Amino acid sequence: MPHDASEGAHWHEPKAGENAGFGNFSRPAMPYDRFMEAENIPVHRAIGVHRVHDLPMKPWARLGGRGTYIQLFGTEGLWGMYVVEIPGGGALNAEHHLYEKEVFVVEGRGSTEIWQDGQTKKQTFEWQKGSLFSIPLNAHHRFVNASSSPALLLCGTSAPNMMNLIDNPHFIFNCPYDFTDRYSGNDDYFKPKDDLEPDPVRGLAMKRTNFIPDIINCEMPLDNRRSPGYRRLEPHMGGQRFHLWIGQHETGRYSKAHCHESAAILICVKGKGYTYTWPEGLGSKPWEAGKGDKVMRQDYEFGGMVSAAPMSGDWFHQHFGISKDPLRFTAWFGPNNHSALKPGRPGEAMADIWAIDIKKGGRAIPYNDEDPYIRKEFEQTLAAEGVPSRMEEKLYVKGD
Ligand SMILES: [Fe+2]
Repeated sequence: MPHDASEGAHWHEPKAGENAGFGNFSRPAMPYDRFMEAENIPVHRAIGVHRVHDLPMKPWARLGGRGTYIQLFGTEGLWGMYVVEIPGGGALNAEHHLYEKEVFVVEGRGSTEIWQDGQTKKQTFEWQKGSLFSIPLNAHHRFVNASSSPALLLCGTSAPNMMNLIDNPHFIFNCPYDFTDRYSGNDDYFKPKDDLEPDPVRGLAMKRTNFIPDIINCEMPLDNRRSPGYRRLEPHMGGQRFHLWIGQHETGRYSKAHCHESAAILICVKGKGYTYTWPEGLGSKPWEAGKGDKVMRQDYEFGGMVSAAPMSGDWFHQHFGISKDPLRFTAWFGPNNHSALKPGRPGEAMADIWAIDIKKGGRAIPYNDEDPYIRKEFEQTLAAEGVPSRMEEKLYVKGD
């Protein structure tokens, strides 16, 4: 456009010593942001949620029912999330899509019908509050509510990854390809499998199962990495790239802080508590350094959640269960985002630095080197809740 044109933006060559461009600008919306806005339901953006039941929801024309998107800080573009309510005695619209989907049943009971193009027989499996399952990539599926009260489903997806790459929702929702390598239609596909084995990368307790009936009450193997008596299970579901696990801190104990970049959202499935998260630059003792006001906090109970590292860069985060029940989470990371499981040089030597103390070269703050404010407040909070602390003095002994 010529410089003297009267309409529209036109470009000026910078003078000597000046830079081209605006200098300051707003971050643009990505294709997935535009997709969410076009769906005309709310988008909840924050560091967490106290209880998803309380989020405002609106009728959702594409899916049926009512819903809201959830895009917690730090997870933008890494993976997506939404809550959808199926009305009592109702069903959602059938759909299929070129992104992975994990489903946690927050409330209610019902069933999922699933099928692929060319398969004459639909497969159906039943779920209830606490069930966790994955929808195989691009498989047709339909959620049906079996009761007269509403059912609430929390879904995690790799929709942002696909939409920001392809930038064409019509293709994402109308591709006819059957991923028979992920889903063959076998009758026992959604039958729970209980065998434990070490995961092939880090050797942590893993189950290859496409359905867990109840992650609120299922047995959990001992792990010990985050707190004494910590339990953890890593389900590998539906051949998905989407990484998730289930973890539990014992009643009266809290996790050590550790540090990494964003991706993880911890969803509370038992007990109640709170999380502190702060940027690595504040150091390991932010209250002692007079920067306690820069530490972010999210409280939650069943159905609540927090983004472990909610902004850019590496953030410390530490989780505190304050109920008579243990604090149990399921943590969701999306595909290829976990710090230990993202692309890099194959065969490169790695260590589980997120479970190794800072003084030993890791990224975790041991109890005996943490900010004293943390223990003091935790024990005061437990006392107010009538729950005995099980953070024994020996855990804080220097040099332990
Ligand atoms: Fe973490």
